[in-house]
Amino acid sequence: MNFYIETVGCQMNALDSELAAAQLITAGWTRMDSRKDSDLVIFNTCSVREHAEEKIYSALGRLKHWKAQKPGSVIAVMGCMAQKDKTIVFQRAPYVDVVIGPGQIDRLVELVAKARETGEQQIAVSVDRFERRDQPRLVKDSFRQFDPIRLPETRPRVFQAMLRIMFGCDKFCSYCVVPSARGPEQCRPPKDIVAEARALADQGCVELVLLGQTVNSYRYVEGEKKTRLPQLLEMIDQIPGIRRVRFVSSYPTDMTDELLQAVRDLPTSTPYLHVPAQHGDNGVLARMRRRYTVEEYKDLVDRIYATVPGAAITSDFIVGFCGETEEEFQKTVDLVKYARFKNSFIFKYSERPGNEAAKNFKDDVPESVKKRRNNELLDVQTAISAEANKAFLGQTVEILVEGPSKRESKSVAQEESLYAECDADSTPNLETNVAKEASANESSDAKDYVQLTGRTPCDRIVVFNGSTRLTGTFQKVKIVDAAPFTLFGELAE
Ligand code: 5AD
Ligand code: SF4
Repeated sequence: MNFYIETVGCQMNALDSELAAAQLITAGWTRMDSRKDSDLVIFNTCSVREHAEEKIYSALGRLKHWKAQKPGSVIAVMGCMAQKDKTIVFQRAPYVDVVIGPGQIDRLVELVAKARETGEQQIAVSVDRFERRDQPRLVKDSFRQFDPIRLPETRPRVFQAMLRIMFGCDKFCSYCVVPSARGPEQCRPPKDIVAEARALADQGCVELVLLGQTVNSYRYVEGEKKTRLPQLLEMIDQIPGIRRVRFVSSYPTDMTDELLQAVRDLPTSTPYLHVPAQHGDNGVLARMRRRYTVEEYKDLVDRIYATVPGAAITSDFIVGFCGETEEEFQKTVDLVKYARFKNSFIFKYSERPGNEAAKNFKDDVPESVKKRRNNELLDVQTAISAEANKAFLGQTVEILVEGPSKRESKSVAQEESLYAECDADSTPNLETNVAKEASANESSDAKDYVQLTGRTPCDRIVVFNGSTRLTGTFQKVKIVDAAPFTLFGELAE
């Protein structure tokens, strides 16, 4: 039996798809690169913006025909949209067989088997935390944690892995669906995280990305012992084989000096910090229910640059949030200039029915204004990114070689992707930019070598020519050219 998974959304979803694939493979299924010869198609979905959902429903619409031609085939919808829409998925796409929330992934194999045996629709979603405020334990338990099976072949690269340290979110930003779709914040016990990191190291992993919706809020109490992210980073630092660790995404108010010092001092911790600011105006931050002021965020930026040498900070921003005036928007532009982010992910506000922002405020910024502000902010950020990258000219940096650049390795799966290139509500994705910049920089005397990419410790992408055998190794590269999203280098040895 063959399966195919199509994934959109954040890194949490990428990891969930990997874990789902590992379960299926362990149960005897074979993973395919396209839906063509598959008996099971899984959509791992995102609910963060309306646009992402609409794309999924229209992609599902296109699968109706595929399913009609393939008796016995199964379509499963997992991820945040499954949790949020529940049986609405069956109403809008009646040929879907399985709806499974992100807190129920451990039941995927079982539900697919049931759907195949009975021909009946199967649904497994977690308890709604807003409907059952009286039963917090019931809600938490329904977002099931499990010890995932990690199979190297399910990762894009054997030598890099994501590792979840916490589930859910308790910050309740007014615009966001995550606290409801992924449930209450629950931190995994340190010993489980360390055991998983060890297992990954044994599989040949040299780089770990620790994942949590607010990863630096990590906190685990066992009797007298309290473990927070700095202690966890220390434990992981001790694991033989692990050379680089980073963590995403951080919440600004939980970025303690102790954590910044750990990032500075631990040999495996890298100076890359993704700390979404979301906005540059205090009034808007309050409407968004973010728990800090711009002054506090700027202070954080100062502390990061003062503590962590060579730090690269990245951020997310929402433009066109309810009631955002031109003056308020300009404060976001000011913040981007002040913080000199390595790059920013910019999103146009998308109203999500039922959440606090939708209940309390009007989505009153016209689409054309959102678009203009998005482009304006992006231009400011791109100029800053370009300038920061220029500073690398002539420097030699250590990179982890990730393999042939996207231009070289564009796979069938990518070309066939139902979701095409990227989410049109966001900035063009970084890989697309890098592929464009890499093509423009192509040299003609590179026949024996392929164009490879790698990343610096501060997560900058470096393109250079070399043998594919270097994939997965650390190399010294001298930077000879720089574009806003890409550095170009030559092997230093
Ligand atoms: N509209 C637009 N962007 C959103 N994000 C979260 N919710 C929304 C929304 N309703 C953005 C935030 C977050 C990123 C993952 O997506 O910037 O950090
Ligand atoms: Fe959403 Fe805010 Fe939680 Fe991030 S911190 S997942 S934006 S609620």
